[in-house]
Amino acid sequence: MRRVLVTGGAGYIGSHTCLELLNAGFEITVVDNLSNSTQESLQRVSTLTGKEIAFFEVDLLDARGLDAVFSKGNFETVIHFAALKAVGESVAQPLQYYQNNVTGTVNLCQAMQKHGVTDLVFSSSATVYGIPKSLPLTEQSETLIHEVTNPYGRSKLMVEFVLKDWQTAFPSMNIALLRYFNPVGAHVSGLIGEDPSGLPNNLLPYVSQVAVGKLEKLGVFGDDYETSDGTGVRDYIHVVDLAVGHVLAVKKLSENPGVVIYNLGTGIGYSVFQIIAAFEEASGRNIPFEIMPRRAGDIAACFADPSLAKRELGWTANRGIQEMCVDGWRWQSNNPNGYS
Ligand code: NAD
Ligand code: UFG
Repeated sequence: MRRVLVTGGAGYIGSHTCLELLNAGFEITVVDNLSNSTQESLQRVSTLTGKEIAFFEVDLLDARGLDAVFSKGNFETVIHFAALKAVGESVAQPLQYYQNNVTGTVNLCQAMQKHGVTDLVFSSSATVYGIPKSLPLTEQSETLIHEVTNPYGRSKLMVEFVLKDWQTAFPSMNIALLRYFNPVGAHVSGLIGEDPSGLPNNLLPYVSQVAVGKLEKLGVFGDDYETSDGTGVRDYIHVVDLAVGHVLAVKKLSENPGVVIYNLGTGIGYSVFQIIAAFEEASGRNIPFEIMPRRAGDIAACFADPSLAKRELGWTANRGIQEMCVDGWRWQSNNPNGYS
């Protein structure tokens, strides 16, 4: 059985991945500073799986605290989700984002190196592709740091460089850079899901809070893009498909591949209007909306070529847009106030 340390495991994608790891027979330890999550998510994962999760409330910026976790764990693999992720906040607080996301990762790598842990899966993002020159995006598409549209995205691309340089210096390291497209939805149980604090930044959490009556109407950020209906197009991926991708990435690293990079998306783009229609169907609720100006930094369209992950991991996203909306709605309607 492989022992996996999951940073940021109490968060949205982390908690779903913990569930899939436990179901696949891995033993897991979570470190999280709970800055954007609660331990309740992990308690529910334990309820769903009937398995224990070792938890340490530690900040990645606390190098000594992190070292103590590694001393207790004897881990073989680390999955690194812990990061701040709000694009707008990163523009206002760039230093906080670089410190948390970049320095936090460097601390993690130093602890791994000290304790002889060689395998790392990193949460990267399609945001590293900046403004796409052509679609779909493959792993070979350009990633130019000055074209990434915000400090959050740049922190992700900087970490990719940090990890590649580290692996070049220490070739026994194995690193998977997973570039997620737009994770949405929730576990089919309706017990775990996305619980944004404050006003949601992302489309699906906003739409579901309108559907449940917590918010009055959705602002659609632009209807004059060069897309089929003028609204922004994205590659939405069910969070459980994404979680399964991590289990397969952990297995891949045991083949000692060095650095591998995979897009995790469905390959299909949906517009904001298509998402509204799908969510109305899933929830049986009306989603009032208003057309607003474009949001700064937004791109017209973004979707993946996920064929490399299929070839090399044996991974495909199996859950379609309807399932994403039905599962997201089940979570939202069963937990209108999230975990609180
Ligand atoms: P999340 O905020 O729900 O989870 C991140 C977790 O990390 C939280 O539990 C938070 O408390 C923890 N954390 C943050 N900084 C920490 C620190 N310094 N020390 C310890 N714990 C810390 O976010 P998520 O949506 O689950 O995202 C997980 C990862 O995936 C992030 O790295 C994010 O950048 C990346 N990602 C997310 C999306 C998305 O749309 N959700 C898209 C692409 C990439
Ligand atoms: N949108 C609206 N109204 C809203 C929110 C979003 O119209 O209230 C639109 C956006 O303009 C965009 C689409 O819905 O066209 C999707 O927006 P999201 O904010 O949900 O997602 P983004 O693609 O902008 O960004 C997300 C994450 C980033 C990540 C990126 C790529 O927020 O962190 O996906 O993975 F980098």
